[in-house]
Amino acid sequence: MTTLLISPDGMLGRAFEETLRGEQLVTVRFPELDLRRPETLACIEALRPARVINCAAYTDVDGAESNEALATEINGDGVGRLAERCRAIGATLVHFGTDYVFDGQGSAPYPVDAPLAPQGAYARSKARGERLLVESGAEHLHVRTSWLYAPWGKNFVRTIARNARIRPELKVVSDQRGRPTSSEHLARTTLALLDRGARGTFHVSDGGECSWFDFACAIVRELGLEAQCTVRACTSEEWPTPTKRPAYSVLDLSKTEALLGPIPPWSSHLRDVLARLDPL
Ligand SMILES: NC(=O)c1ccc[n+]([C@@H]2O[C@H](COP(=O)([O-])OP(=O)(O)OC[C@H]3O[C@@H](n4cnc5c(N)ncnc54)[C@H](OP(=O)(O)O)[C@@H]3O)[C@@H](O)[C@H]2O)c1
Repeated sequence: MTTLLISPDGMLGRAFEETLRGEQLVTVRFPELDLRRPETLACIEALRPARVINCAAYTDVDGAESNEALATEINGDGVGRLAERCRAIGATLVHFGTDYVFDGQGSAPYPVDAPLAPQGAYARSKARGERLLVESGAEHLHVRTSWLYAPWGKNFVRTIARNARIRPELKVVSDQRGRPTSSEHLARTTLALLDRGARGTFHVSDGGECSWFDFACAIVRELGLEAQCTVRACTSEEWPTPTKRPAYSVLDLSKTEALLGPIPPWSSHLRDVLARLDPL
């Protein structure tokens, strides 16, 4: 069974490439495959893979506010085109969504069928991708996730680990709560869902929940840097960003856990990732 992995160089793409090592895997990266250019999707008909794992996306959340057309072309219409191609050859499309499609005002975890209320340009582009994926009629596994991190790539864990070594104090927002997600755990769990025949929309993150402040404190503590770097809590108002981030974006994992069992807490995944950080 051939798997086509799109964007093996991204944070999640690399986790899939490593997890699928030794299997029948073909990788394709930008610009050889560009979700904006339909002609570059011809490799799908040529290869006829049983499944396509799409790790390509426009992921600059703040940048999307001034580049919404580009974000929509990639995360929205591009995903729709990809899904059409998969439907035409009968391939299963695995695609990733975001917690940002919800309103972020809740106080209980968002179930998979909670109403979408995207709050910014990136979230709107991802919501359009979800809709076009479902409307395409392609067999699919759509996995919403949140707060991705890995030993590699650009992510919060690596940023805090780097800054805690060179700054005496870090300010981190404490009024936004969510669920961190190890990219490697996400890749393994997605493949386990596929193996169990899961289709439709699922949520996958690490277990437990925290604020960005809690998460930063745990990173600094695990690295043994508490004596040299103090983490201070601040509000979102003190740390303004072009896109307003959700105050509460905890994804409900019950549908996934019903199939696969309990998901380990973020603290254990974090410890494992911190032990293997790429050079900062
Ligand atoms: N990161 C998070 O916290 C987070 C949270 C929730 C959901 N997600 C979702 O999880 C998935 C993986 O995210 P990630 O953080 O691994 O992303 P990432 O590291 O930014 O990787 C995205 C990849 O997409 C490629 N790409 C960009 N434009 C493209 C285009 N037009 N055509 C084809 N490929 C293109 C990029 O290539 P270049 O590097 O060459 O530009 C890069 O390899 C995405 O669907 C994202 O929306 C992420």
